[in-house]
Amino acid sequence: MSKTIAILTGGGDCPGLNAVIRGVVRSATQKKWRILGIEDGFDGLISNRAVRELDSDSVRGILQRGGTILGTSNHGDPLHYPVEKNGQIQRVDMSGVVIENFNRLGADALIAVGGDGTLKIAQHLYQRGLNVVGIPKTIDNDLKSTDVTFGYNSAVGVVTEALDRLHTTAESHHRVMVVEVMGRDAGWIALESGIAGGADVILLPEIPYSIEHVCHAINERRDRGGRFSIVVVAEGAFPQQGEKVVKVGTGLSRSGVERLGGIGQYVSEQIADCTEMEVRTVVLGHLQRGGSPSPFDRILGSRFGVKAVDLIEQGQFGKMVSLRGRNVVATTIADAVGSLNTVDPQGELAEAAEKLGIMLGR
Ligand code: F6P
Repeated sequence: MSKTIAILTGGGDCPGLNAVIRGVVRSATQKKWRILGIEDGFDGLISNRAVRELDSDSVRGILQRGGTILGTSNHGDPLHYPVEKNGQIQRVDMSGVVIENFNRLGADALIAVGGDGTLKIAQHLYQRGLNVVGIPKTIDNDLKSTDVTFGYNSAVGVVTEALDRLHTTAESHHRVMVVEVMGRDAGWIALESGIAGGADVILLPEIPYSIEHVCHAINERRDRGGRFSIVVVAEGAFPQQGEKVVKVGTGLSRSGVERLGGIGQYVSEQIADCTEMEVRTVVLGHLQRGGSPSPFDRILGSRFGVKAVDLIEQGQFGKMVSLRGRNVVATTIADAVGSLNTVDPQGELAEAAEKLGIMLGR
């Protein structure tokens, strides 16, 4: 039976989003379905603005492109939408407006592509009767229920390449290079790219670090003849008896979420004090989210898109597509959003890093 489906991409952009959109459109057009692209995430359904028809022509040449052709937003949470009342910003539940505007489109189902925030909204809308299927996206890889999110592999590739490049300067100038990477609550990017890029110290949100131990490790390495060190710090890392470092002056984003940033500089100053080595800080920031998706993310994104269309055809709503082992399967959105997928400090990956001689701050 012919259907009309809609797709939106929410939260921070991420390599592979266009592969997902293309996967959805290619698969759905083969079924002769109509596909609507909603612009700028849930913002597009609140303001009821641009919705465009997507067909094979609209997704030609986008597989290798970063970002999302639909646009996105990480400050339009309809459950806590910022509205100005009497000169003050109040947060109101706009999910009724979203559902009304969605129903006006005449679509049978919505595919919501996003991270924890977007999928929480999707789950709420599903509970209110909307036919939703979720697709997990985030470079941080912090979503439960899937072995990995698309975008993560590309980000690890970017950071690993940066570490390779920074090695040459660190080595030539006998410096400590501190590299701040993304990862609010989960240190996957720091840990895996740190291992891939031969880091000496990796600091994660899951393991509050001791600066004394970090300095000891760097000094010991220097005494053994290692005249440089590479330190990878996740933006959400924090010291024992300390707190996460929030961006000064712009501490809150428009979504009301704390903007992290600055831990790299903070750690650098501490290392400079206790090692007397020359230290430099590099913040990779949004470079990690940009650019072309890796082959892995193109394939995963495409498979996720195809699977989401299959789930709609089978009437399986409230579901999220997930990678389990080598298979793309259906799980529930509810299971994915309850809590985050973080690095297990006692797990095999963290232990392997330590057995490789990498210091994890403890
Ligand atoms: O969720 C992905 C992420 O990359 C986080 O690691 C980071 O804190 C956040 O996005 C930054 O988002 P933005 O600066 O685009 O609001």
